[in-house]
Amino acid sequence: MITESKSSVKARFPRLLKLHRNLKWGSAALWSSLRFRCCMARNRPYFGPIMAARQGNPRRHWYMQRLIEQECQRSRRPFIVLEIGSWAGGSAITWAQAIKDFNHGQGLVICIDPWVQYFADDISRGWVYGAMSRALRKGQIISLFMHNIRTSGHDDVIRFIRGASDELLPRMGAGQFDLVFVDGAHTYHQVLQDLTNSARLLRDGGILCGDDLELQAAQVDMQFTLQNTQSDFIQDPKTGKWYHPGVTRALAGYFGHQEVSAWEGFWAMRVRGTGGDEVNWERVAIEMGNLDVVVPEHLRS
Ligand SMILES: C[S@@+](CC[C@H](N)C(=O)[O-])C[C@H]1O[C@@H](n2cnc3c(N)ncnc32)[C@H](O)[C@@H]1O
Repeated sequence: MITESKSSVKARFPRLLKLHRNLKWGSAALWSSLRFRCCMARNRPYFGPIMAARQGNPRRHWYMQRLIEQECQRSRRPFIVLEIGSWAGGSAITWAQAIKDFNHGQGLVICIDPWVQYFADDISRGWVYGAMSRALRKGQIISLFMHNIRTSGHDDVIRFIRGASDELLPRMGAGQFDLVFVDGAHTYHQVLQDLTNSARLLRDGGILCGDDLELQAAQVDMQFTLQNTQSDFIQDPKTGKWYHPGVTRALAGYFGHQEVSAWEGFWAMRVRGTGGDEVNWERVAIEMGNLDVVVPEHLRS
């Protein structure tokens, strides 16, 4: 049987292939748009590709919920979460659901986000950044956040403050949070600043955690990382894996090159002491047992 390779078909029928590709993209875009409109009209949360509403690897949210489950078993009282960077509300709903499942709804999720452009277009290419830039410019993402929180039924435990972490965190009282989740801008300086400002806000034994630690300092090409800490998401030449260099470098700097506990990019450390400066950090264990990772319902597509 004579088979023609994909590249020779491509060379012979370039216009046909382009048409095929455009049709495929067109039907996917149409389907996404219908789903979005349907969720808006029927008062359902939306976490599809429009506005890049679903952010990051949804498997991480399973670890986030297991962590809340464990922490709530350690002490019975309202569990208070501070989230830096909420976008369309995906992670806020994950925390809220966990508080309901494992702490009888006793707790709060305080979200802070300015919902304004925060990454430079010239260093962040790709459809996700394009979609995010448009959603921020048009002021649509905060509306989607509010829609998602309301329609998920978690507006009883989620509160939000519109503003940037640098401005809001220093004004918050020390030691009042059980967990602070750092998922704002991913440049080195911003992550480091957020870690520093957040540590003061934790009670003794509280959890500082965050998203997007795909690779730790010991794993990457450090020279390359140091040269690219303003980039959001790039490929490490040593491992060939995609990672957030600003997050990798900031965590290495902040935790003094101590390896951080991390699961598929979600990371967490426990603080011992209060006040931010004179504290110790411990790794955190999440009991996995024989459980399979299950993506929370709101993020299943
Ligand atoms: C990666 S998205 C957050 C995704 C969200 N946590 C989730 O999992 O669905 C980053 C968010 O951080 C916000 N952000 C950027 N700079 C910030 C800052 N200085 N303080 C608070 N939020 C910030 C952005 O507006 C954006 O919504």
